[in-house]
Parts: sequence; structure tokens; C-alpha cells
Amino acid sequence: MRRFIPILLALWLGLPGLVVAQAGLWDRQVDSILSLMTLTEKIGQMNLLTSDWVQTGPSLRPSYLADIQAGRVGAIFNAHTADYTCELQRLAVEETRLGIPLLFGFDVVHGYKTIFPMPIGEAASWDLAAIEGAARISTREAAAAGLHWTFAPMVDIARDPRWGRMAEGAGEDTWYGNEVARARVRGIQGQDLADPQTLLACVKHYAAYGAAQAGRDYHTTDLSEQTLREVYLPPFQAAIEAGAATIMTAFNDLNGIPATGNRFLLDQILRQEWGFDGFVVTDYSSIPEMIQHGIVGDTAAAAALALDAGVDMDMQASAYYYHLARLVAEGKIDEGQIDAAVRRILRAKYALGLFDDPYRYCQPNQEAAVWLSDAHRAAARDIARKSLVLLRNQGATLPLRSPDRILLTGPLADSQRDMLGSWSGAGEAESCVTLKTGLETRFGAEKVRFVPGCGIEDGDDQGIAAAVRAARRAEVIVAAVGESAAMSGEAASRSELDLPGVQLELLQALKATGKPLVVVVFSGRALALPWLAEQADALVMAWFPGTEGGHALAEVLSGDYGPSGRLPVTVPRSVGQVPIFYNPKATGRPMDPQQKYTSKYLDVPNTPLFPFGYGLTYGEMVYEGLQAEPSVFDPSQTVTVSVTVTNRGPQAGTETVQLYVRDLVGSLTRPVRELKGFQQVTLAPGESRVVTFALRAEDLAFLRRDGTYGAEPGHFDLFIGPHAESAEHVRVKLVP
Ligand code: NOJ
Repeated sequence: MRRFIPILLALWLGLPGLVVAQAGLWDRQVDSILSLMTLTEKIGQMNLLTSDWVQTGPSLRPSYLADIQAGRVGAIFNAHTADYTCELQRLAVEETRLGIPLLFGFDVVHGYKTIFPMPIGEAASWDLAAIEGAARISTREAAAAGLHWTFAPMVDIARDPRWGRMAEGAGEDTWYGNEVARARVRGIQGQDLADPQTLLACVKHYAAYGAAQAGRDYHTTDLSEQTLREVYLPPFQAAIEAGAATIMTAFNDLNGIPATGNRFLLDQILRQEWGFDGFVVTDYSSIPEMIQHGIVGDTAAAAALALDAGVDMDMQASAYYYHLARLVAEGKIDEGQIDAAVRRILRAKYALGLFDDPYRYCQPNQEAAVWLSDAHRAAARDIARKSLVLLRNQGATLPLRSPDRILLTGPLADSQRDMLGSWSGAGEAESCVTLKTGLETRFGAEKVRFVPGCGIEDGDDQGIAAAVRAARRAEVIVAAVGESAAMSGEAASRSELDLPGVQLELLQALKATGKPLVVVVFSGRALALPWLAEQADALVMAWFPGTEGGHALAEVLSGDYGPSGRLPVTVPRSVGQVPIFYNPKATGRPMDPQQKYTSKYLDVPNTPLFPFGYGLTYGEMVYEGLQAEPSVFDPSQTVTVSVTVTNRGPQAGTETVQLYVRDLVGSLTRPVRELKGFQQVTLAPGESRVVTFALRAEDLAFLRRDGTYGAEPGHFDLFIGPHAESAEHVRVKLVP
């Protein structure tokens, strides 16, 4: 504690001369500390370095240890577990001149030890409470491991499934993306960051990273300001309004300026328009990458550009560390800019309570109590079952009644590692339940015969014959196919959206046996699988379902849980349709199969294989009596839109009822549909429910041609249905 004394002294004395009038308590305390800091120590706070954590355990280069001891590092990432973080914290607190505590960050994206479905899968649950709960549990486990800060939520809108990072977000829709972003921030940050079971959230990747040209990761982004503001930015704003304490810049360049040096994004929009007062961190080494972008000639210029744009913390490049002091000495940057950045970083440390007790996240006894606890596994199983999307179910193939002979096949049927997906924190393959274990537990091991059939990516078809032989003796085939976990996530773009390797050959051979074929697809993106959409008797999209995935799948396949997941992305028929999403602008030549000169392809329909919002239940849902009251309304009124949903099937089902709007005439062209709300209702066989939405003029607002935000009077079509392509609608009119 010796070295911590100067800071405590400064705090007690309050250093009134340095106190900014009207500043809050934290601000006064932060200013007190700032007044004690040398320029080098200030720049140290802006330096974020990774530990060299490897599979076998932690390590930190000796030079980093020296950097911590010298106060040249403000935060460390990829260092975790209470013992290790506390050891490093001790160096910062007790062996540096000012004793400023370190911040420990990590990518806790969908779990720390207990791994939840990939975020795209969580989003497919359309259950915001479950999504918030998953974030809360992940946070709890991470906080017990000494972490303070997670690089989540990822809120990038993803309209192109070639981009592997579609897996990490909430899908293609902005309105839904806003809801999920808020839920995740609430789950991570809780009510009060001073509670040591919360973390700082870091909303990423700001901005428009998901619009990478051709779906190739890190590629450039070129967007109109309208599309940027209407489609890509709102989830960031939503996260910030929900209190996200930090934000990460993206790797891409946006309209000619890399996001990490983009003053328009970081200053004008983020700080001035949205009033963000947290700190901005770069993505990994993205400051010097601006040299490759061709916007600066050397690292010093890159550091100056980033600082001037509004970047507070440099992830892993040490560009600030090596260049800022000299840039100040040369008069190229103002020390006041550094002070502003450090103030924001110290304020975050304050918010976490680290200045009161730098060891408050050192709770080694908590780790065993919370990691993979029964309650956490149960929550993971709950959202995993809700994330599964039933895309096809011919002749009620599912649920499986009580089969005596199941052939389980396919390369994903028993791969624990692949259940985790990418960015799986400290999750361990050994704790994952595969589909094989799930089915054996549910139906009895003697009823499940497992024959792998083939690998994921290799072209070896030798195992197919054995699978076919086993299929002939089975009552039903369950085939687990798809991508490996490593094929989604960062640096995992694909140019094809098919099943890799010989998996389709395996499925076609199995189909030829005439036995019912249930196909479970694992992947972090939408895959274009037209053969499966026609030939599988049942088709389930499983994403990467996490630790409890196998049990969750067994529940849905057996009917213990009726499937309720819905697609948060459009599924294309072919790569050639990409980017495909449910809410494009209308064309002046809408598709007409009879007319050559209309907007269409010669070789594939315009429609997707499965639309956004799609998913079947074991019920049979019928929508009737759509109405809106009043049909003419002014901005002071609320329109009540309702529909009656009836389950005409013999089994219960949870239906996700969706409200979409089309603004027929606008000062700028408007999307053909926009999601504005959804509700989940569980209906017993024969049960009916009136589902009602309240719609106000502000729900119809957009960024208008004159640059103002608001709704425009005129006609709107309101659709309520089970997905984005449902046709039933009513027309209403907004009057001034
Ligand atoms: C690079 C990734 O783009 C980002 O999402 C992640 O948070 C950082 N690396 C840190 O691991």
C-alpha cells in the first residue's frame, strides 16, 4: 500500500486550487490525481497492453512488468483469473510512484467460463430478458476472475453473411439491434458500476465495421451519411444511452477516413451529438494501421491523428507511449488533449471503485463458486434452447416421439470445441455438452448410434458409406453439419455460403435411404443451403449454442421444449444475392417476372430462402383480424394495432409476433419494411390471443431530407405477422 499513499493524500486534501467549479466529486478527485502526474505517467494511462496469455497459462513479457512498475501502462487485457490480475495490480498499486490501479479488460463476448450461444444465436431467441441475463452471468463470472472491463457488446449491423463477424452481433436489423444493445449493456454494467459484480462495457466496433466491402473482414466501408446514421449508428447510440462506459474504434476506413482517426465519428457525433463522456479505445493496433490505410506516413502522425480525432486509449500499438511526449514537446499536440483523455480513463477507474479499493475485484474464492455453477449452466441451457430456429418440419418429423434407433451422424455431432463458437472467453471444450451427449441423456445411450460420416472441411468421403449402412437400420437420422467454430468470427470471411467439405454429399446419401432426415446446422452466419431447404425433413439452425448446447438441442428435438427462435438475419438462396436484407429501399422497377426490364436476377428469385424473423413452432399459428385504430391520427395520438393469433395445431407453441411498417412516401426514399416491435406469446392448442402494439408518430421518425429527425405526415402500411415477408397489412394516415 506504500505507493498508494500519495493518491489517497491528494484525495483527502482535495487540492481545492485545482478543482474545476461545479465538477462532481469524481471530477475533483480525478483532477487532484492529474495534478500529481508527469506527462509520461499520463501517457501511461492511455496505454493498453495485452498479456501473453496462452493456452497453458499466463505470462507477461518482462518489459511489460517493467512498464507496469514504471507507471507506463494504464490497462492490461487478456490477463485474467483473480490471482494473476491481483498480482499485476499489486505491481501497479504498490510499486509505482502514484499507485494508480490498472484496468483489466477481456473479450467476454458470450460468456467467461459458462459459454452462452454465439451472440447471433442469443439474438435469435428474441428474448431480451434472457439476453440481458446471459450478459449478467458472463459479467459475474468475469468479475470473479479479476476483470473490470469487457470488449462487448458488439453492435455492428451485419447484412452480409460472408463477413464472419456476423456471428458476434444481433444480426441485420437496426431497431432490434438497438434493443439487444441496451439489454447487453444493462446486463454488463448493472445498476451501479461500483458493484464489483459489474464490468465496464465497451461497445464496438465504431463504426460501420459490418459494412466491409464484399464481406471481407477489415475491408473498406463507403456509405452515405444517411445509411450510416439510419442503419449503422443507432445501436451505438442506444448502447451509450444505456450507459456504456467505453467504446472501441473499428479497423475499417469510413468514406476515406479510418475510424480510428475519424473526428467526424469520434468528436462530432459521439461526443458532441450524443454527449458521450466515457473513454474511447482503439481496436488492436489500429493506430499504426492507419499507415497501411495510407492516411499518414508514420506512427507519430498516426498517434497525432488518433488523439486529435478523440481516441483516449491505444490498444497494443504503443503508438501513444512512444510518440505523444515528443509530439507535445514539438508543439504538434496540446497537453490539454492528453489531460482530457486521462481524465476520462481515470473517471472509469473511479466509477469501478478502484481508487477506494484497487483489490475489490480480487475475489479468488468467488471463482469456484460462480464459474459453471448449476444456475449458470441452467441459464445457458435456457437461452440455448430459445436460440434454436426450426426452419422446416415436413410431416411433423419433429418432435421425435420415442425413437428406438436414432442414427446420429455428421462432423458437428460430438465436437465439444465447436459448441463454444468463437470469442469463447475462458470457456473450455471439456465442459461442453454435444448433441451426442444431449441425445444419449434424453433418449438413452442404447438408442443412439453415432457414426461421424465425414469431417467438416476435408474432402474425405470414405466415412459416408458407414453412415449410410447405419442409416438403413435406423428409424430416424439426425445429422449435425455446418461450419467449425473457427470459420466464424474475426478474420473468417467466406466467399461461399455452402456446407464445407463433403457434408452435402453425406446428407444426399443419407436422404437416398428414404429414412426421415433431421438436419441440425451449426454456424455463426446465415448459410445458403437450398438443397436442405427442400430435401431435409426437418431443419434446425443451431448457431454455436455454447456449453449446454447438446442438452438444449435434445430438448427441442424431443419436444420437451417447443422451438421459439427466429432468424435475426435473412438467409439467402445463393451468394449472388448477397448483401440481402429485409429492409432495402424500393426500386422504381419492382420485380415482375413477366417484364424483362425490372429489378431481378435471371437465375435466382429475389426472395430469400428464409426471411428475417422466420422460424416455425410445433404449433400452427394463424393470424386474423388485423386492425389499427384510429386509422387517421395526429402526433398527439397513439395508434393501437392488433391481431388475433390462434394456435390451430395439436401442440403448444411460442410465437414471435412482429410489427413492421412501411412509409409509403417520404422526402427521402424509405425502406420497404421496418421492424417496429415484437411480442412473444405462448399458446396452447386451440388457444387464441389478441396481440396489441401501440404505435406513435415518433416510432415513424427518420432522418429527413432537410437533416431534421421526425415523422412525415402521410400514409403508412402496418404489417403484423410471423416474419418480414408476411403480406397482411392495414393502412393508416398520419396528419400534421
Ligand atoms: C480485435 C477485435 O476486432 C476486437 O473485437 C477485440 O475486442 C480486440 N481484438 C481485443 O481482443
